[in-house]
Amino acid sequence: MFGKIGRNDLCWCGSGRKYKVCHEQLDRKVRSMRMLGHEVPGREMLKTPEQIERIRESCRINITVLDYLEGHIREGMNTAEIDRIVYDMTTDMGGIPAPLNFEGYPYSVCTSLNNQVCHGFPSDKVVLKEGDILNVDCSTVFNGYFSDSSRMFCIGEVSAEKKRLVQITKECVERGLGEVRPWGFLGDMGQAVHDHAYENGYTVVEEIGGHGVGLAFHEEPWVSYHSRRGEEMLLVPGMIFTIEPMVNMGGAEIYVDEDNGWEVYTEDGLPSAQWEIMVLVTEEGSEVLCW
Ligand code: MF3
Ligand code: CO
Repeated sequence: MFGKIGRNDLCWCGSGRKYKVCHEQLDRKVRSMRMLGHEVPGREMLKTPEQIERIRESCRINITVLDYLEGHIREGMNTAEIDRIVYDMTTDMGGIPAPLNFEGYPYSVCTSLNNQVCHGFPSDKVVLKEGDILNVDCSTVFNGYFSDSSRMFCIGEVSAEKKRLVQITKECVERGLGEVRPWGFLGDMGQAVHDHAYENGYTVVEEIGGHGVGLAFHEEPWVSYHSRRGEEMLLVPGMIFTIEPMVNMGGAEIYVDEDNGWEVYTEDGLPSAQWEIMVLVTEEGSEVLCW
């Protein structure tokens, strides 16, 4: 993982600088944290500046698609139309929708409505109506680099209690983001998300979490929101991962549609909301790459 490399050799990150003026200090710090018993990222989890630039290009497409949808999702539209827009826009910009054929997933985007927690199938039979809340989870591959983010859409007038769920879920992501800093821990973020949801009377899905992302759709680390401050993986500059809690109005229990093996619902039938951002750990703190 953090193997031996001469101090005057070129750094492993590809910066073209000598190791001693580039990543040597960071490697030492990571090694000492590992010796203290902390879980630490492997080098492959630390993106180089060049990789980060490529990942940004992928994010740019993902953001453009979601921005467009903000102006176009409306009552009466069916979710198959959203799938078509995502496919057409993404491919027009030279990207590929990352969900398409991912582990057999048959569509370009996930559209999860009301009591659907995630991985909702777009369908011409799902027609958006006033009062619905919809998550659109969009992911792009561009030149082999991945981006992933999702937003909530409220259709027409939405009940105060659903609006509150959507708002608090967004705040959960912001609270989590506020805890992302180098040499902190993934659990600092996880607990902040968790606590804000539960303090507001909601629950957070345990089985499905966030993930590292950039060189693949889903990389290490797996990101939980049932983690504690000071626990889980050490955060190191160059790491990129998603914050994407699924927050339920009722209980945290979920089930997967047995017929298609993908669509996830709340056990109690109550609504669920999710926002997803992609975060880079920087020297100074964090940067949101995709939202
Ligand atoms: N975009 C989802 C995530 O946030 C993953 C969906 S997997 C898919 O991690 F196959 F359904 F696309
Ligand atoms: Co994700």
